Amino acid sequence: MLQVIGGGRMGEALVGGLLRAGGLRLDGIRVVEPDRARRTALEGIFPGVDVVGTPGAADDHVVAVKPADVPAVCRAVAVFGPARVLSIAAGVTIATLEAALAPGSQVVRAMPNTPALVGMGAAAIAPGSSADDDDLAWAESLLGAVGTVVRVKERLLDAVTGLSGSGPAYVFLMVEALIEAGVQVGLPRAVSQALSVQTLLGAATLLAQSDEGPEALRAAVTSPGGTTAAGVQVLERHGLQAALLEAVAAATERSRELGQEPPHSL
Ligand SMILES: NC(=O)c1ccc[n+]([C@@H]2O[C@H](COP(=O)([O-])OP(=O)(O)OC[C@H]3O[C@@H](n4cnc5c(N)ncnc54)[C@H](OP(=O)(O)O)[C@@H]3O)[C@@H](O)[C@H]2O)c1
Repeated sequence: MLQVIGGGRMGEALVGGLLRAGGLRLDGIRVVEPDRARRTALEGIFPGVDVVGTPGAADDHVVAVKPADVPAVCRAVAVFGPARVLSIAAGVTIATLEAALAPGSQVVRAMPNTPALVGMGAAAIAPGSSADDDDLAWAESLLGAVGTVVRVKERLLDAVTGLSGSGPAYVFLMVEALIEAGVQVGLPRAVSQALSVQTLLGAATLLAQSDEGPEALRAAVTSPGGTTAAGVQVLERHGLQAALLEAVAAATERSRELGQEPPHSL
């Protein structure tokens, strides 16, 4: 029995992904959600899945509540003895998780990102002190239902937060600017938005499916003296690469700082 604690956006995305991926039976999943209205909604979305108000005994748990609620949830799980737990709560350390769970619990900490909500997440996982290869493979199989998963040491999760955790916001900001730019050169806003979003999706898909890296793909569309070269030169002159380097470094540093504080909501 897999118990998903927290039936919010991430919990729902994970359960939906797991059911779509197959391999887990409806009666093999329980969702714990304290809010009655939300429970009713989840029962409608996942007919046949047990949706309850408080955690019960289970072999495996996913902790998908806000960071500030994590210690209380772990203590509620600890009542049933050692457990295998995957936490997706941003910034809550393995030490905090292990301190609140029963001794000997196998903990895996993950840093996912919001595209998991559409099955296109990028997550990194790190093992706790009692977690072995099987536990990491288990966590990979869960998060693999909503995107890609890589393994890192816990100390690298701040960098993961700075890159892929916060990354969707960098991309959204870039698309906002692209849409505005399209409007400024004369396109109707709706046209600019449709072209900008599809350009991003198309470029990302091309990159993901191609054997070539981003440099080669960029070179292929940049003829000397052409339109793309003119645009890219401006981006380079304004320091796009440097800005991204600094952005990821700043977000990584902020993640480190927040990790020193008690569990918080990001
Ligand atoms: N969303 C993201 O993109 C993202 C990315 C990376 C990491 N994360 C992490 O994923 C976690 C969940 O995020 P989310 O966006 O899914 O948040 P969310 O939509 O607020 O979901 C959290 C859910 O947990 C429920 N909950 C709170 N206390 C509980 C308890 N004691 N027992 C059982 N359920 C409880 C909440 O119910 P109530 O509403 O009744 O309080 C809510 O439904 C967070 O820790 C976040 O840091 C999220």
